[in-house]
Parts: sequence; C-alpha cells; structure tokens
Amino acid sequence: MADKKMPAPATTTDGGIRVQSDEHSLTVGPDGPIVLHDHYLLEQMANFNRERIPERQPHAKGSGAFGSFETTADVSKYTKADLFKKGKKTDVAMRFSTVAGERGSPDTWRDPRGFSVKFYTEEGNFDMVGNNTPVFFVRDPIKFQNFIRSQKRRADNGLRDHDMMWDFWTLSPESAHQVTYLMGDRGVPKNWREMNGYSSHTYMLVNESGEKFWVKFHFHTDVGSMSGNAHLTQDEAVKKAGEDSDYHRRDLFDAIHKGDFPSWTLKWQIMPYDDAKTYRINPFDLTKTWPHSDYPLIEVGKLTLNENPVDWDTQIEQLAFEPNNIVPGIGLSPDKMLLARGFSYADAHRHRLGVNYKQIPVNSVRNAPVNSYSRAGAMRVTNAVDPVYAPNSYGGPSAQPVPGPEAGLWHSDGDMVRAAYTLREDDDDWTQAGILVREVMDDAQRDRFVSNVAGHLADGVSEKVLVRAIDYWKNVDKTIGGRIEKAVRDKIGGKSEAPGMASAKSISDPAGN
Ligand code: HEM
Repeated sequence: MADKKMPAPATTTDGGIRVQSDEHSLTVGPDGPIVLHDHYLLEQMANFNRERIPERQPHAKGSGAFGSFETTADVSKYTKADLFKKGKKTDVAMRFSTVAGERGSPDTWRDPRGFSVKFYTEEGNFDMVGNNTPVFFVRDPIKFQNFIRSQKRRADNGLRDHDMMWDFWTLSPESAHQVTYLMGDRGVPKNWREMNGYSSHTYMLVNESGEKFWVKFHFHTDVGSMSGNAHLTQDEAVKKAGEDSDYHRRDLFDAIHKGDFPSWTLKWQIMPYDDAKTYRINPFDLTKTWPHSDYPLIEVGKLTLNENPVDWDTQIEQLAFEPNNIVPGIGLSPDKMLLARGFSYADAHRHRLGVNYKQIPVNSVRNAPVNSYSRAGAMRVTNAVDPVYAPNSYGGPSAQPVPGPEAGLWHSDGDMVRAAYTLREDDDDWTQAGILVREVMDDAQRDRFVSNVAGHLADGVSEKVLVRAIDYWKNVDKTIGGRIEKAVRDKIGGKSEAPGMASAKSISDPAGN
C-alpha cells in the first residue's frame, strides 16, 4: 500500500499523462452522452476486459511466495550441480495448488496439493514441479488428460461427479496407491506450511567424475508436528470451504507477513545407477515408492519462504514451472510421465502466457546469462542482437557442452511397443496401497480413511461403479474393503444407487432410456 504520510501521486494514463478525473467521464453537458475521445475512460474499459488470463488447465487454484534454498550437506559425490554445492544459497519462487478445482475454488476440497519450486540457479532455472504425495494416479501419460477430465466437470450439467471419478479410478487399478493417499489425511492438508512435498518422479544425478545415480526428492516440513500429515477432517474441510475458500492462501500470506517463515528440509533417496536394472520394483513407475529400508533418506538442505508477492497476478498467476528446466548435474529419467511433462508445461505456458513467457520477470533467468537464438514474437521485450543464426562467423553464441557426461542420458534399445514398463517381482497395483493402509496409518488415520472413502462413495456413485469400488478396496486390503462396504451400504441404506446420480442421469438422458 502507498505510504499514507506521503502526498498521493497524480493518477496518469498508462502513457504517463495526468488524467483529469478518477470519477467523471467526459460528457456533453452533465446530462448528455459520453464522448469517444475520453481516452482514459476507454483505456480503463479496455484494460479491465483483458485483466484475466486463462487459468491453468489443472492446478488452477493456488498461491505462492519467495525465499531461498541452502545446501547444508556435502552431496558432491552424487551431483556436480552448482546449486547443490555445500553452503550455496539460491533464490526460489514457490507455488502450492489444488489440482481439479478452478481458479476460485475452495482451498479445502479433497485433492492432492501441488508443490512447485523454481530455483534461480547460476546455471539457469531449475524447476521441481511436485505434489504433496510421493506417487501419482497413472503411469502412462496417455491417460493423464482423461484422468483430469474425470476429476473436473461433466459435459451436461457442468457439475463435478463422484461417479466419473470412481469410474476412472476403478478402471485404472494403478491409481490405488495414490487414491489411498488422497482419501487419507493428505487429501486435505491443514495448511501448506505443515505439508511435505515430493518430486514423486525419479530423476538422475551425475557427479564430476561422470557417475550417475537415480534420486527421489522429499521436502519434509519443519513446521508444526513435522509429520507432513497435519490435516483437516472432512467435516472441518467442508465447513472451511464455506467460511473461507482462500483459507490456505491466507494462512501462507499471513504467516510470512508476521515473520513466521515456513521451511522444509530437502532429503534425497539415492539409488545406484545399476540397481535400477534389477530392483524388484520398477524404479521409474510413478505409482510406486522406494521403501526407505532399501534406500534411506539423506539430508541435503533447507528451503525457506520469507517474502510475499506484492502483485499476485504478475508474480504468482504468471509464474510458469516446467519439469524440462533441468540444470547440469541433474537429469530426467525413463519415467514416461516425466518425459511427457517435459513437453506439456512449456506448451501450456505458450497458450496461457504467450511465446515469450520466459521474459516475464518472475520466470526470467536472473542469475545466469541467457544467450539463446529465440527472437521476436508477441510481447518480446529483450532486444535480439546480430548474428541471429548459428553457426556463424561473427562471434555469436556457440554451443559449449558442459564437460563430462550429460545427465539424463541412459541406455535404451528395443522394439517400439505400447506398454508402460515390464512387470517386475513386486510390481502389482495393490501391495503398496495395502502397506500404506495397514502399516503406515495408525488406527485413527484408518478410521478417518474409511469414513472419507465411504462418504465419497455414498455421494452420487452408481451401483455398478460402487460394486467395482468395493472390489478395488478389497484388493487393497480385505478387512478395509469390508469396512468400506459396510459403511457405504449403511449410508445409502436400501437404495440401489447413491443419492445424486439420479438427477445427473435425468439431465443426460431426458428420454429415460
Ligand atoms: C500443472 C500437465 C503430471 C504436478 C500442470 C499443467 C499442465 C500439466 C498442462 C498446467 C501448467 C500451467 O498452465 O502452468 C501434466 C501432464 C502430466 C502431469 C501432461 C503427466 C503426463 C503431474 C505430476 C505432478 C504434477 C505427476 C506431480 C508430481 C503439477 C503441479 C502443477 C501442474 C504442481 C502446478 C504448477 C504451478 O504451480 O504452476 N500439469 N501434469 N503434474 N502439475 Fe502437472
């Protein structure tokens, strides 16, 4: 806000010209029509009509803040990345989000939460675009778009619909592990500060001598109980959604404003390169975790947020993350989902923000030189310089590979097929979800989980999908499946279909066929 003690500055047009009034348009006499050459009035109307940019397709609702990451441990035996040199401090921008809701939807709807970090490193920007869960719903990117559609809104009535959510999940058994997280406490975090973040995907690291490793990133909250499971119950979440739909956004802003800066400890699980060939679980399958007993966590550094945005639209809404922003010493992996994301995000930004989105200050590279051959295009604001092509003999930039082996390259050979991974010994869809329910959740968490699943299933799910959902949970764990079956049947009573479906059906099939 402007300093109240200072005299207020004169209002100007966007062209810097003083305006005559903030309150009155130029008219022919006080009772007459407005005139077309009131350019300030026209500018106000025109800009207003263009204030909203398209929202993100998934993850539309969210907010963020700024801070820094400091590497506190010597991890040079795993990576040569400058940002992970012990003692190095790097500026960051972060955004938290829900997945399925629109830009104004309540923060406390049950959903995974996005956990995105942009590191402004001296080797270019590095983006880690993760979630608050270590796994995902699908393992093949061809299913992602349909998965998101099933979580958003129906074609006919524009309503969200539990029937289509469960229809998709139960026809996609690889979703079981992530749906177990979603229906547990992580589905509605208490706030973003007390929530863990995960790369979920496996990435590659490469050190100075060219040795390669596989890695998963875990950001563990340092706030509150530090379990990463601080949550709202379903009832609290529903109440909050009505009372304050921006509850999580407000909490983060207020905490930082008061100087109560949230922080996370970054830990890595490291898998030696050759282990990936024979490990009992395919280490690139995004629906699986690596047991800590096989690959323990090692501490790497601390991420702290200490600065709020001053203009939410330019700094948060226009913030653009892309998993393909990878710096030397870090690489992608054969995870098919991660590889597809390498295309999808930059494409989304070109649509949402325009081709020159990397020149928007919050996305621009602030700690490394940019010498690319991209030029011109809508909203280009930095000057291109000659020569504008390569190769050239006039001293223009020339590719100078980072010495040593490149991260993100691995051996690959085979026939082209349509299959997501060769199954290994422990690669079924149910085991890890079952372990999560039986061994990771305590009794109270399990009770809340059963109640959350039953409540969700009792709200608008058709009988044929419900039957499949009960089987799905019995596959995860027989006892839990039985408890869910009883709880949901008790809730819907003798009805053959849970309430909610009938109205949707009558709209989509007015003839009643
Ligand atoms: C946002 C695509 C999987 C985390 C987005 C956006 C797209 C997208 C198009 C909107 C980007 C924008 O407009 O700014 C995909 C595709 C996926 C995939 C095609 C799989 C093939 C995942 C996974 C995770 C994830 C596995 C987490 C591990 C996020 C987050 C955002 C996001 C956190 C919000 C970024 C922000 O805060 O601006 N995704 N996604 N996505 N996605 Fe994904």
